[in-house]
Amino acid sequence: MRLRIAPSLLAADFARLAEEIADIEAAGADLLHLDLMDGRFVPNLTFGPPVVAALAARATIPLDAHLMVVDPDPLIPELVAAGVRRISVHVESCHHLHRTLSSIRTAGLEAGVALNPASPLVLIDEVVGELDFVLIMSVNPGFGGQTFIPSTLDKIRRLRALPAARELDISVDGGVDPGTAGPLVAAGATTLVAGSAVFGCSDRTAALGALRRAALRGNDS
Ligand code: DX5
Ligand code: ZN
Repeated sequence: MRLRIAPSLLAADFARLAEEIADIEAAGADLLHLDLMDGRFVPNLTFGPPVVAALAARATIPLDAHLMVVDPDPLIPELVAAGVRRISVHVESCHHLHRTLSSIRTAGLEAGVALNPASPLVLIDEVVGELDFVLIMSVNPGFGGQTFIPSTLDKIRRLRALPAARELDISVDGGVDPGTAGPLVAAGATTLVAGSAVFGCSDRTAALGALRRAALRGNDS
């Protein structure tokens, strides 16, 4: 599976979002990761579907919406209308996960489940067949720039080893940088979400290059 890098807009300059998106697109980003937070599921508040729709009108790469909200279901039709390609919902916030995933897929989008660091893989056992990707959180969600939690590597290895997950895109989110990218890809990650490691560098081409080189080294190991 081809490695993809998804810069997280959370670390961008919020006063210049369109320019920031153009910059990472020119630098070769594969996806644009959008963190929707409601101030309840996580202690932070970002943006909602109207802002996503405005960004979709400017972006040329696919949009990857990560819903860190208590009640994701009402947002799904609005995000479909906004034009996102992928939606991930947290297993910890879905009472009817199968139904929520079906509603994403029925709309023609890629469906993913996000797992907090403390949430075990067994929680997604019964829905692996309904998934296009899993988003493994390698920090507790809510903020950018946090320290990578090392036990994530073993979690990704165990997920990749499951027969039903052989072809699954495993995305990882939180503390991804050139130091963690190699071990993550070696463990089985196929999409790297990176906020500060991309938007925190003024040269985004160099930042993406450093992540890709580190990821390739991980693949060799
Ligand atoms: C955290 C968000 C991440 C965040 C990652 O809750 O889901 O997408 O932007 O930021 P970094 O890469 O700086 O850890
Ligand atoms: Zn995220």
